[in-house]
Amino acid sequence: MTQLTPEQIHEEVQARYGRIADEFKLGVQTAACCGDGVNNTCCGSDDAQYDTLFSNLYSADTGWLPEDVTALSLGCGDPITLAQLTPGQTVLDLGSGGGIDCFMAARQVGPDGYVIGVDMTPAMLEKARRNQAKVGLTNVEFRQGQIEALPVTDNTVDVIISNCVINLSPDKAAVFHEAYRVLKPGGRIAVSDVVTQGQFTPEERANMAAWTGCITGAEDVADYVAAMRAAGFSAISVRDKANPDVELSGVQRYTGEVKVLSARVTAVKSGDR
Ligand SMILES: C[S@@+](CC[C@H](N)C(=O)[O-])C[C@H]1O[C@@H](n2cnc3c(N)ncnc32)[C@H](O)[C@@H]1O
Repeated sequence: MTQLTPEQIHEEVQARYGRIADEFKLGVQTAACCGDGVNNTCCGSDDAQYDTLFSNLYSADTGWLPEDVTALSLGCGDPITLAQLTPGQTVLDLGSGGGIDCFMAARQVGPDGYVIGVDMTPAMLEKARRNQAKVGLTNVEFRQGQIEALPVTDNTVDVIISNCVINLSPDKAAVFHEAYRVLKPGGRIAVSDVVTQGQFTPEERANMAAWTGCITGAEDVADYVAAMRAAGFSAISVRDKANPDVELSGVQRYTGEVKVLSARVTAVKSGDR
């Protein structure tokens, strides 16, 4: 089976999320990362086992946000609770979508803080900017760009958040290198993402409905952690949202049947490199 190039994967991902943004209408359907908005099959497969990864996401308060924002939530976790933000911080959201996590972050960092959302899909950026006008927050900015080549200056960010996006990238090593570059020394990453225990086959990876639905682009935890370590991160932690007491960052690459997890990922740029 022919493998797609990174550029083709970006195009497929952008087409899916552009379509979701364009077709989004309040009261017509609730968006979800895993689903095509037309029928309820999950990520191009008939298997509903993945649906739990993408539901009941937040313990952070979303009640103040308009439905235009909450109904366009496409994440797989709650990076806001994970990030423990404080007033005055500069926050970067990788793959900001309709802006939900940016708005919550902006409220937490307050008027002395600043939030940058980066997304490559023009229709999503348009939704996010409209939503920003609705929520009335001025300390947020949405920039168009790829998370593998961030439009952000070196050493300027305190905390990087992201919600169900890095799994979609065809080059996770580049994403973590860029994340490391833009963080200040001592800066942190606090990310929700889909990872696996076990590896998808090349045939499964070539299924673009499943890749763009946040499943088959996901990497085995051991490979994910190795990419973070190679980028320079330390104090790396990966925990399954469904089983948070178990630390997964030290595990070997898994060889059994593929298990798909919604992970809570944290790490630090120690600044020693
Ligand atoms: C599953 S949605 C998540 C959106 C948002 N984080 C949320 O929780 O609602 C993925 C988003 O990431 C964006 N995205 C995916 N891959 C990207 C990349 N390589 N560079 C920039 N944006 C990307 C998509 O355009 C889409 O808006």
